Amino acid sequence: ETTLEDEETERDLVVVSNREPYQHEYDSDGSVVVEEPVGGLTAGLDPVVQKTQGDWVAWGDGDADAVVTDDDDCVAVPPDDERYTLRRVWLEDEEVEGYYYGYSNRVLWPLCHDLVDRVEMEPDYWDTYRSVNESFGEAAVERATENSTVWIQDYHFCLAPKTIRESLPDGASMVQFWHIPWPAWDTFRVVPHAEELVEGLLSNDVVGFHIDRYRDNFLECAAQLDDTRVDRDAGVVHVDGRTVEVGAFEMGVDADRIAETAETFDHHAWAHLAGKYDIDPNINVAVGVDRIDYTKGIPKRIDALEQFWEEHPEWRGELTFVQKSSHSRSQIPAYQRAANEVEEAIERVNDRFGTEDWQPIVHVDDHLSQRELFGLYRHADIALVSPLRDGLNLVAKEYVAAQVEDDGVLLLSEFAGAHQTLDEAVTINPYSPEGFAEAIHQSLSMTAVERGRRMRSLRSVVTEHDLDDWVAELLTATVPDGEEFTVEGTD
Ligand code: G6P
Repeated sequence: ETTLEDEETERDLVVVSNREPYQHEYDSDGSVVVEEPVGGLTAGLDPVVQKTQGDWVAWGDGDADAVVTDDDDCVAVPPDDERYTLRRVWLEDEEVEGYYYGYSNRVLWPLCHDLVDRVEMEPDYWDTYRSVNESFGEAAVERATENSTVWIQDYHFCLAPKTIRESLPDGASMVQFWHIPWPAWDTFRVVPHAEELVEGLLSNDVVGFHIDRYRDNFLECAAQLDDTRVDRDAGVVHVDGRTVEVGAFEMGVDADRIAETAETFDHHAWAHLAGKYDIDPNINVAVGVDRIDYTKGIPKRIDALEQFWEEHPEWRGELTFVQKSSHSRSQIPAYQRAANEVEEAIERVNDRFGTEDWQPIVHVDDHLSQRELFGLYRHADIALVSPLRDGLNLVAKEYVAAQVEDDGVLLLSEFAGAHQTLDEAVTINPYSPEGFAEAIHQSLSMTAVERGRRMRSLRSVVTEHDLDDWVAELLTATVPDGEEFTVEGTD
């Protein structure tokens, strides 16, 4: 058995991701400050890589001059406990423009979310994407040994596996996890490089998706290539004399830690946080937590709330909606427009219904600590998770994990990957404001017994398949039958 618990584990991980787990910056006094991972994927994987004492290859998005070792590219992290090597890949501005803002986020992101009209193609995006993928691939190969499992994250790296495969030491293996949806061939073929992208991913030994539909769509795409043979039932692709396993491995969250943290955020702490944002903690609270992105459907959510307050005036003054937002990719005009649309929609509804002592929608744009965020989840009566399309949506799972009193209601879009397993959520179609408004009304009117029944069931789903289980399942697919990767107690 191969375990990550065992200090003498035979295998070590080389994680490749666009975002880095630790950022190095200069403070105003010239000293180097290291920013810890705050959330999401990087925070979740950091303990796993610490355990294997492996390597992590990522875009050096911090200050390129703020280095703490002699070797500009490699730094030992965490800073106070030096468990693994962070190998940073430095990119020129034009590279960031073509690879990150360009091909990754103006082409692949909208394409995979089935928003073909939003795809913006410039010829140099592709060339830059390819060369940056080669740089990451070379950096990964530098760190890999015959005992390594190279674990590539997401859509930023369709072509890196090809570079890695060419020089991968014997005995090492490669797995890629695709965190966003994978569309049908009819959508994916819209980009001229569709076949090359699929071929790049097929250089891995294992390709993982959150849910069956994305896996099936990918297999359909793989079947279009000349030199492949696809066995859909077995979930494998035969190519170049190799067998690539293609599977669905739905990601989980660190449910125990979220619950423990939420538990510490008592009513007093909540009243304090609510006070800071002028939220009345004595009325109902609905929460939405999103990175500002056109896929998240925030304006449609606000339309639904408007309709809800219009049709159910008894809830005016009795429900506050808290929209917590974070920003990224803001250099892309579509993201600036998305941010403006959210602001405008909130203003419209607040102008229409707001009174002296009640603000219908409170927009929290500030950074919240994890404790505050999990506290907000715990004390929110309902959560509105209504993306137009979403690979999984971790917020849905985090909200559930934080419901330590089992009394909140999750409203979840049928277009989020998480909807596959969170079947006791109240299902919404974000494209139907009437249905959405009615679902809000039903959720707020639900009996305590019904709320408890649904939330207990959701909580068991989220606890019984957590982050560690996801890592273990995915990595076990990379080792020979009968062996196992187990990750336990990574807190
Ligand atoms: C999605 C992607 C991640 C990405 C995150 C934040 O969840 O799957 O790979 O890191 O969005 O986006 P950003 O562009 O800020 O990294």
